Amino acid sequence: MKTRVKIEKVIRETSDAFTLVLENAPSIGSYLPGQFLNFFLDINGEEVVRQYSFSSSALIGEPPAVTIKKVAGGLASNFLGEHLRAGDEVSVSTPSGRFTTTYGERRRVLMVAGGSGITPLYSMMKSILAREPESQVTLLYANRSSESIIFKAGLDYLEQKYHGRLEVKHFLSAEDAGPEKQENTVFRKLNRFDFQKYVDAYWKESPEVFICGPDSLMDLSVVSLSDLGLSDDRIRVEAFTGTGGVENTNDASEACTQVEIRDFNGGPVAFRADRNQPVLKSALDAGIRLPHSCKESMCGACKVKLISGQLHMKTNYALPDDELEQGYVLLCSGFPQSEKLALQYG
Ligand SMILES: Cc1cc2nc3c(=O)[nH]c(=O)nc-3n(C[C@H](O)[C@H](O)[C@H](O)COP(=O)(O)OP(=O)(O)OC[C@H]3O[C@@H](n4cnc5c(N)ncnc54)[C@H](O)[C@@H]3O)c2cc1C
Ligand code: FES
Repeated sequence: MKTRVKIEKVIRETSDAFTLVLENAPSIGSYLPGQFLNFFLDINGEEVVRQYSFSSSALIGEPPAVTIKKVAGGLASNFLGEHLRAGDEVSVSTPSGRFTTTYGERRRVLMVAGGSGITPLYSMMKSILAREPESQVTLLYANRSSESIIFKAGLDYLEQKYHGRLEVKHFLSAEDAGPEKQENTVFRKLNRFDFQKYVDAYWKESPEVFICGPDSLMDLSVVSLSDLGLSDDRIRVEAFTGTGGVENTNDASEACTQVEIRDFNGGPVAFRADRNQPVLKSALDAGIRLPHSCKESMCGACKVKLISGQLHMKTNYALPDDELEQGYVLLCSGFPQSEKLALQYG
């Protein structure tokens, strides 16, 4: 569902990252830390959809805000940075995403961030520290240089406020150590031995790990932590860039499925879908522009409700359990499996 919200404020975080503070509109609804909004942008007459994670925490009374880093040559991130000002309106979805957490009693949390990957983790960290007075959080944060650290002042403030409960370690890969020693900064890339130290120190507390950043950092973190014996169910990952889409299958027959989708642009739409490929692909091949963005089951932009028939989602990184229970499915990773399929927006 799309809604229009006003941008209350634009905060410059670094030379290429900025925060959009949004109007606290009831239409956005409530969100969990770590979730994101789809932004529907009109760029040169084309609709461009991109996802931006909340950096704010509603639990501590902050208005909704997302933080965006301009990607070199990137369409949406540069458009947002260069064209939007306080007072402008943007079209966004309701919050989506499964990279989140519910609150418990006491836990030991490790967060690993690279660049703009700090955004959902910052929201989660503020929420965990405020909501769970006995929990402890360690953040390993990788950047090229001190100038590129997003939320540097905010992280320093949180470390003081939650003294002994939050530890931040910066890793700067393209900067040399200056004459003044900085206790919490290492001037090199993060490596597997950094995880060894952490796991050795907190192994008994069975840490929970949240990772968000470039693919190389996420791969290094997951492999290192798995090698050290941390089970997969303790490690949660959010990817900002995908791996190239959901692959077609060749093992189904040549059968087709008759698909009907209700409430699309005010009326129903019908088309035949190949069972060897996701429903979204068949629709686009037939010239029907159903809503979508990532095509990699990450953003939730292609979400619809399954009314009848069978559909198998090959992957799902976007829909939380409660939406799955309500019958929502993703069309970019959903393969039709029955003769007929009835779906509905809304
Ligand atoms: C679930 C989710 C949450 C996200 N949350 C955030 C967030 O909080 N803050 C944020 O800044 N971004 C976030 N992103 C990424 C964001 O949605 C866009 O992909 C990003 O801003 C690039 O879009 P663009 O249109 O500027 O670049 P495009 O025009 O789409 O891409 C231009 C070029 O940059 C490369 N590229 C695309 N994205 C990245 C990237 N993130 N890093 C490096 N290279 C890239 C592409 O491969 C391409 O070559 C999130 C993505 C997902 C899926
Ligand atoms: S298009 Fe992003 S989840 Fe389907």
